[in-house]
Amino acid sequence: MFLVIGATAHFGRQTVEALHEEGRPVRALTRSPEKAGLPEGVEVVQGDLAVPETFAAALDGVTAVLLVLPYGLDATAFLEAAAKSGVGRIVFLSSGAVADGVDEQADVIAAYHAGVERAITATGVPATMLRIMFPAINSLAFGMQLQGGDVIRGAYADAAFSMIHERDVADVAARVLTGDGHEGRVYELAGAASLTQAEQVRVLGEALGRPLRFEEVPDRPLREQMGEFMDPDFVNALFDLMAATVGRPAPVNSVVEDITGHEPRTYAQWASEHAGDFA
Ligand SMILES: NC(=O)c1ccc[n+]([C@@H]2O[C@H](COP(=O)([O-])OP(=O)(O)OC[C@H]3O[C@@H](n4cnc5c(N)ncnc54)[C@H](OP(=O)(O)O)[C@@H]3O)[C@@H](O)[C@H]2O)c1
Repeated sequence: MFLVIGATAHFGRQTVEALHEEGRPVRALTRSPEKAGLPEGVEVVQGDLAVPETFAAALDGVTAVLLVLPYGLDATAFLEAAAKSGVGRIVFLSSGAVADGVDEQADVIAAYHAGVERAITATGVPATMLRIMFPAINSLAFGMQLQGGDVIRGAYADAAFSMIHERDVADVAARVLTGDGHEGRVYELAGAASLTQAEQVRVLGEALGRPLRFEEVPDRPLREQMGEFMDPDFVNALFDLMAATVGRPAPVNSVVEDITGHEPRTYAQWASEHAGDFA
């Protein structure tokens, strides 16, 4: 039995579907089973990582766990319960911001994910870290602005990311959960190509049949604006990570293809599949 945490959001949902399509027994943990909307045949279990009483039912008979966590959620108690219940493998969707071999991580995003990685390692359960940097789903944040016109205003037009498709992350997760030889490995997953934000918006425009363009605006007011409804340290970490990529093409590698046997999906493919999300 494969247990997926974060099964109702982007990466976990796609992984549940990938495992289910392969005919694997898969259990999806959610706080609200009635809203899960997962394929028939997927076992949906009510659970909450903040409520230890829900762990036993979730972990019953589980051989491997995919852990996708909303930023900041403490998974320590769940990890200890997973180790005790005999889970044989943990796969964690981590962040490319994590730096190895440093005493202190550079920002709160890196520190959070490094902390979870350490907590997983401390359980002694064989584990694999899948680190991603900027997933293509981050472009969904453009949706609100696109309702008002064809211009996306944001910081750092030349920030460059190798945007990874959530299904590629899921395909890798499914292989790592079900196959051998990945224990103890840290994989940096990258998309098909490095694209600047200005290029992403142009590609998105082609998919939507609209002449979209990115207009760069100063970052300071945006940081302050976002910091009013999100943790300011998180916002600053995000902006700093973006700023650090300006003028530097994002790394592209063969990890997705090596593990899944197929090339990473392009951002253009992601954009055309998600066109409906911007309608
Ligand atoms: N976006 C990025 O730039 C980026 C970059 C690197 C890494 N990542 C990783 O990807 C993660 C985001 O993944 P995502 O967008 O798929 O998910 P998400 O939207 O951040 O999280 C929502 C998921 O978490 C579950 N959840 C929330 N609170 C829970 C709780 N107390 N107990 C159990 N489950 C809980 C929700 O399940 P229910 O509501 O159904 O209970 C839902 O499935 C980030 O936190 C990070 O670790 C993201």
